[in-house]
Amino acid sequence: MTTDRELAHPLTELTPDALREHVAAELTRGRARSAVLTESVDEADLVRQHSPLMSPLVWDLAHIGSQEELWLVRDVGGREPLRPEIDGLYDAFQHSRASRVELPLLTPPETRRYVAEVREKALDALEHSPLRGRQLEEHAFAFGMIVQHEQQHDETMLATHQLRVGAPVLHAEPPPRSAGPPVPAEVLVPAGAFSMGTSTEPWSLDNERPAHRVDVPGYVIDAAPVTNGQYVEFVEAGGYTEPRWWSAEGWRHRADAELVAPRFWQRDADGQWWRRRFGVLEQVREDEPVVHVCFHEAAAFAAWAGKRLPTEAEWEKAARWDPATGRSRRYPWGDEEPTPEHANLGQRHLSPAPVGAYPKGASALGVHQLIGDVWEWTSSGWHPYPGFQMFPYPEYSEVFFGGDYRVLRGGSFGTDPAAVRATFRNWDHPVRRQIFTGFRCARDATPAELRDGWAR
Ligand code: AVJ
Ligand code: FE
Repeated sequence: MTTDRELAHPLTELTPDALREHVAAELTRGRARSAVLTESVDEADLVRQHSPLMSPLVWDLAHIGSQEELWLVRDVGGREPLRPEIDGLYDAFQHSRASRVELPLLTPPETRRYVAEVREKALDALEHSPLRGRQLEEHAFAFGMIVQHEQQHDETMLATHQLRVGAPVLHAEPPPRSAGPPVPAEVLVPAGAFSMGTSTEPWSLDNERPAHRVDVPGYVIDAAPVTNGQYVEFVEAGGYTEPRWWSAEGWRHRADAELVAPRFWQRDADGQWWRRRFGVLEQVREDEPVVHVCFHEAAAFAAWAGKRLPTEAEWEKAARWDPATGRSRRYPWGDEEPTPEHANLGQRHLSPAPVGAYPKGASALGVHQLIGDVWEWTSSGWHPYPGFQMFPYPEYSEVFFGGDYRVLRGGSFGTDPAAVRATFRNWDHPVRRQIFTGFRCARDATPAELRDGWAR
């Protein structure tokens, strides 16, 4: 019954010309998003350091162009550098985010000209690549990597917008309300092996590979991310003043950083909670997943709730494992690409959606909102899978392995569909909360639950 077989990906069945068309459309879609994020503010805002945690927006834009030039224009296209003298400025490893504002960066008009020239040459490289043969070009991998890279920086720029002070400049439709039957509290996942990671997803990044079997003891996982309403209970029960819920490291960080509630929250004189969201102050909505909490806050909440955070393998099994076939799906709902009915992705809404808003996005086991809404902290550190092979450069994944990071899964409302799937792995320092992070809890299954199965 159980099998490691993965389905052929639709991209692998396209003719080279159809694949070129798909790549060009994806590049264009990413650039439209970058344009919204960089044209909605004035020049002073583009070059400003909104937070020492972030680059100036104009740095992200030029860095997007610089990576595109390196891989698509110089490597795939075999062309000469456009502006070799600026390479170092936009190398993320040479300058910390906090120091980038001091660099002699291209001005906003120069940056726009530069990324447009790079794009023109990248599209030319796309015309001329056979999109097969070399591993870098096979199934347009390098193009897919650059599509994802731009979208990743678009999410980073969205986080910079959230830190920006001033009148709101970004606007979007509110997320859908809950639809369908109520979401249960928890779901039992029976013990057993499943196939984790991928060996066939053509645009998967090196750290997602290869597919490998992982045996997971039975466990119970929350059917939805933890909501603001649940989180307020923790805060009001004194969660931030009770060391017993926190790890020693978390408790120290809570004190040093003076954490009292999720980032961007404030309480008024009547005890009502408000949050600042892209420049708008609004009441905290009880039914939406909590966002802007760090790993330590997530772990403390879980301990208070009598639970723990899921491991990365537990998260992925709940998302992908189909008990009917034993296969691992590409997405919780199946193998089809996300649509607006499946998940809150792509900055279509500038907020998580209430629990229950995506019944069509539930996994085979009935776990909701795994993809989109909020990145979910797991208890796992950042390590390679067995059989990991670095490709195509060590600075994407490899240099971070074993560092002070926790794995994040599932993407947020700020993540593009091109930049997330159920195998996608993200990571960050456990103290970070300017990113769009929330969590769900898990716990070991009791012997009775394992024996009797489940229907709650
Ligand atoms: C995978 C989100 C941790 O933004 O630091 C962007 C992605 N790598 N440019 C990051 C990335 C190089 C990376 N994360
Ligand atoms: Fe980058």
